[in-house]
Amino acid sequence: MKRQIIEAKNISMKFHLASEKIDNIKEYFVKKIKGNISYDILWALRNVDFRMEAGECTALIGLNGSGKSTFLKILAGVLEPTEGEVKVSGTIAPLIELGAGFDMDLTARENVWLNGAILGHSRSVMREHYDEIVDFSGLKKFMDTPLKNYSSGMLARLAFSVMTFGTPDILIVDEVLSVGDFTFQEKCKERIRRMRGSGTAILLVSHSMEQVREICTRAVWLEKGIVKRDGACQEVTEEYLRRGEG
Ligand SMILES: Nc1ncnc2c1ncn2[C@@H]1O[C@H](COP(=O)(O)OP(=O)(O)OP(=O)(O)O)[C@@H](O)[C@H]1O
Ligand SMILES: [Mg+2]
Repeated sequence: MKRQIIEAKNISMKFHLASEKIDNIKEYFVKKIKGNISYDILWALRNVDFRMEAGECTALIGLNGSGKSTFLKILAGVLEPTEGEVKVSGTIAPLIELGAGFDMDLTARENVWLNGAILGHSRSVMREHYDEIVDFSGLKKFMDTPLKNYSSGMLARLAFSVMTFGTPDILIVDEVLSVGDFTFQEKCKERIRRMRGSGTAILLVSHSMEQVREICTRAVWLEKGIVKRDGACQEVTEEYLRRGEG
């Protein structure tokens, strides 16, 4: 039997949405003291069970707002679920919110080092891989430019390069592939294929079923925070697309 690297049991996530407009801070405190601020409750995820084995390539699909990014953030430890338990065994490269670990006032070079530290890499590991990271990003000429002057595609390139060097056990990708231009998209796909070849498990969120079919063998379809289907990629994506037309 293969080794289980992700085990998420009975995950639910509740968000509070302010349901009335509060115009100023005074009004807020008056209402707060009177205890009549009302919230709408939104369950972004409900009783989600999910397991993944080493080396598995899974897509997470679903309409806007179905809970995909929320689920990835819970797996990556960015969000704490309201209910349920998550166990991740192994190193994880979470490409979730582009530039989440970036400081826009610093240069690209400084950010590479900063991110390396955030991801827990030692200075010597970063020194060893620095050139490779820069080469892959294709941004050599812009390493001394502050990130606030980067385009969103350039940011995506840098983020992908810093976060995917080496061989993590799990790569989590939330749609970033669609941000870069086609030359970079090809490079990303190639790198994902290479990682997959060396045993990295991949969890991919994408609205492109073509891309999903190219990379993944299994698909999990989320609908309003509930797992609607979990199965072979081709079948689940076909059903999902049919549903979209109907
Ligand atoms: N921090 C938050 N506070 C309140 N509500 C949130 C928060 N984050 C997400 N939500 C809500 O949770 C629901 C699920 O959002 P999520 O971002 O997980 O969807 P998604 O499947 O990634 O959608 P998309 O395809 O548009 O990226 C949405 O209704 C969203 O408004
Ligand atoms: Mg999302």
